[in-house]
Amino acid sequence: MTGDWTPDSYLDFAAPRLRPAVDLLARIPLAAPDAIVDLGCGTGTATGLLAARWPAAQLTGVDASPAMLEAARAEGPAGVHWLRADIAAWAADAAGPAVDLIFSNAALHWLDDHGTLLPTLLRRLRPGGVLAVQMPANHTEPSHTALFDLARDRRWADRLRPLCRTAPVWTPAEYHRLLAPLTGGGLDIWQTQYLHVLEGPDPVARWTDSTIVRPLAAALTPDEAADLRAAYAAAQRAAYPPEADGRTLFPFRRLFLVARP
Ligand SMILES: C[S@@+](CC[C@H](N)C(=O)[O-])C[C@H]1O[C@@H](n2cnc3c(N)ncnc32)[C@H](O)[C@@H]1O
Repeated sequence: MTGDWTPDSYLDFAAPRLRPAVDLLARIPLAAPDAIVDLGCGTGTATGLLAARWPAAQLTGVDASPAMLEAARAEGPAGVHWLRADIAAWAADAAGPAVDLIFSNAALHWLDDHGTLLPTLLRRLRPGGVLAVQMPANHTEPSHTALFDLARDRRWADRLRPLCRTAPVWTPAEYHRLLAPLTGGGLDIWQTQYLHVLEGPDPVARWTDSTIVRPLAAALTPDEAADLRAAYAAAQRAAYPPEADGRTLFPFRRLFLVARP
């Protein structure tokens, strides 16, 4: 991972970022799971939803970012085992304890090779267990493509192009083909396009600064990073101009899957 996450700027948009976790949680068909893991738990905001719905469950929050885990320990729900680990390594740990629910909100798109990762995660479930995942699927929209275009600039293409995750999330049909043979207990895949209504200057650039822009800016000198951010903000102002009332409409697509072996 290039550069650590920045919990404060990620939490700038806490409410709209949490909404997909709420929508995912509503589709999980479990009454009383004993053991739950939240993969890529970040600051523990979505972990708090899990703790509120299943207060008797043993909860583990897994994340690779020291800064996000520190925020989770300070502000997340009590009684959670916060574990610093890579998600792919956790998934592949065949000796690790099996769990009833693997939940992951806005994290698995940072990992490659979903064809290996998702079946490996299914194998970490107890009988009757559920894998519930939400991932942003906006990478063909200007919020993302403008950044990939800027990364091609000769000033920094050699450093930034390898960091561009241009197609991290598959189509719903591709996930269905992968998972249907492995999920006799049920498979539900859907997409939602949220219409975020954002306030203040450069809201789309501020939204993505703590996510997709962060690793690219961290690979540049401070002057280059400032130039990248300025050019990206200008592109976002053009792609998502403010409405007459000054607010900015930001459509954002996300993919959900709930899978039961
Ligand atoms: C966009 S945040 C989402 C945080 C949280 N799930 C939420 O809904 O607020 C993505 C999180 O995934 C974590 N992450 C990304 N790749 C990871 C990996 N390979 N292993 C562990 N954590 C990872 C990041 O550190 C970050 O905290």
